[in-house]
Amino acid sequence: MYYKLAPSILAADFTRLGEQVKEVYGAGAEYLHLDVMDGAFVPSISFGMPVIKSLRPCTRAVFDVHMMVEEPGRYVDRVVNQIKEAGLKAGVALNPATPVRSLECILGQLDMVLIMTVNPGFGGQKFIPYTLDKVRELKNMLNEQGLKTDIQVDGGVNAGNVREIIEAGANIFVAGSAVFGRDPSARTREFMDILKE
Ligand code: DX5
Ligand code: ZN
Repeated sequence: MYYKLAPSILAADFTRLGEQVKEVYGAGAEYLHLDVMDGAFVPSISFGMPVIKSLRPCTRAVFDVHMMVEEPGRYVDRVVNQIKEAGLKAGVALNPATPVRSLECILGQLDMVLIMTVNPGFGGQKFIPYTLDKVRELKNMLNEQGLKTDIQVDGGVNAGNVREIIEAGANIFVAGSAVFGRDPSARTREFMDILKE
C-alpha cells in the first residue's frame, strides 16, 4: 500500500504560503490539502479560488480540495459526475456522525473517501477515537466490493497516532497543525519516515 501525506494549509503561515507549500512538497508530501469553508456548511470562512489559483504554479503537488460548502452535500451524485467529467478525481467526505453505509451505492464511482476524524470547521482539534471503527468498516466494505479506493483521514492526525490509523486501513493522511508551525519540512520528513516504514 502506498501512503501519502496531505499537509493542510489551514495551519500554514499565510504571509509565506508559497514558500511553505514548496517546503512540504520538497520534503516528500505529494498532496496539498486545501480546506474551502463557506461560513455556512461550517462556521468559518477560509479561502477560495484566488488563493488556490495563485498556488497552482508554485508546486506540482496534487491539490486535494476539501469542500466544506453547502452545495456539493445536497447533490452528491450529480456533483461526483460533474467532477469526473471535468477530468478530476472525486471523493466524498463523511463527517463523524455520518454512517459509512450511506456511501454503499456510490462507492464504485469514487476515487477517495475522506473519513473526518474531527468535526469539520477548525484545525487543531483532538482526534475522535471512534472514527477509527469507521475506517475499518469502510476498508471492509471496499474489500467486499473489490475496490481499491483511497481512504483519507482528516483532523487531529499526528506522528503519534498515524501508525494506528494506518493499521485501521487509511492510506492518505491530512495533517495541519502537526506539519505547519515550527519547521514544516522537518515535520513532513518525520511523517514520511513513518509512512515508509
Ligand atoms: C478541519 C479541516 C482540516 C484541518 C486539519 O475542518 O478539514 O483539514 O485543517 O487540521 P489539524 O490537522 O490541525 O487537525
Ligand atoms: Zn480538511
